[in-house]
Amino acid sequence: MGLYDAFRYDGKRVLVVGGATGMGAAAAELLLDSGASEIVVMDYADVTLGGVTPIHVNLGEKESIDTALEACGGPVHAVFSCAGVADGTPGIERINYVGHRYLVERMLAGGMLHRGASVTFISSSAGLGWEPNFTQISELLDLDDFATAAAWMRDRNWADYLHTKQAVCAFVSRDSLRFLKAGVRINALCPGPTDTPLARANEETWLGNGADFRAEAGVDASTPLEQAYPLVFLGSDAARAINGQTVVADHGWFAAGTTHVFPAATGIAAFLQNRAPAGTREGSPQEQAGL
Ligand SMILES: NC(=O)c1ccc[n+]([C@@H]2O[C@H](COP(=O)([O-])OP(=O)(O)OC[C@H]3O[C@@H](n4cnc5c(N)ncnc54)[C@H](O)[C@@H]3O)[C@@H](O)[C@H]2O)c1
Repeated sequence: MGLYDAFRYDGKRVLVVGGATGMGAAAAELLLDSGASEIVVMDYADVTLGGVTPIHVNLGEKESIDTALEACGGPVHAVFSCAGVADGTPGIERINYVGHRYLVERMLAGGMLHRGASVTFISSSAGLGWEPNFTQISELLDLDDFATAAAWMRDRNWADYLHTKQAVCAFVSRDSLRFLKAGVRINALCPGPTDTPLARANEETWLGNGADFRAEAGVDASTPLEQAYPLVFLGSDAARAINGQTVVADHGWFAAGTTHVFPAATGIAAFLQNRAPAGTREGSPQEQAGL
């Protein structure tokens, strides 16, 4: 036993949702080395990784989530909600947000998550711009019924990647105090472009984005394992003080755009973060106070 054990998962039961491929699979593989007592991997696709407990789930269907949770049972000490699909996939509003939300709420209400547990989502930098839309997103977050929330998103043309990821980012921020009162932390990782099957299937946009920045910086698109490291850290006891956060892991691409250090990224960073670049805002509260 030592101070560094807080980064480990000794004796813990861990659930990875969406762990058949990509970053979820990398997280499950990393967790095999963490001391965890059991790693349950839920996915729609077949799970090929050895040493884990596979459970079939379709996040697009409430009944499938209910059945999967029954098979999993509790307690679960850390949940990693990783599954996601791209624009054009039918049911994207359920797979990327409503299903994940339903799953973790059911786990909380059903006593599967005890004090000290954590829930860590994979959201996306595409979801960082939720704050100016908060009033409307809050309406969605107030809906705890699976079908009603999914219909709300479809009715407003929000059944798309950007809005589902904004919903996840807003959810971890707004509902983190409620979860913490039950002793459970919730956070989200927002990965930059990462070389996974999903990104390859949408290569021009997903991996093309930021290629100029990476060439300038001398880095490659992330490997799934490079994103699994901060994900698994966020779920560990070492991250005990981190709650309600959306942690960006994009090599500093948006930071360089926001601060005009890499002007080619200024536009996309402003668009996806839904805010003006640094130094271009007029009449900030501090300016108004004459500071
Ligand atoms: N790859 C990137 O560049 C990138 C960047 C930012 C965010 N993300 C997000 O990262 C997460 C992981 O994606 P990835 O890139 O590792 O891709 P991936 O396709 O390898 O992983 C996604 C997993 O979700 C599973 N899944 C899909 N539909 C499902 C359903 N209906 N029910 C249950 N599971 C389902 C897939 O089978 C797969 O195992 C996603 O949420 C994605 O939006 C990816």
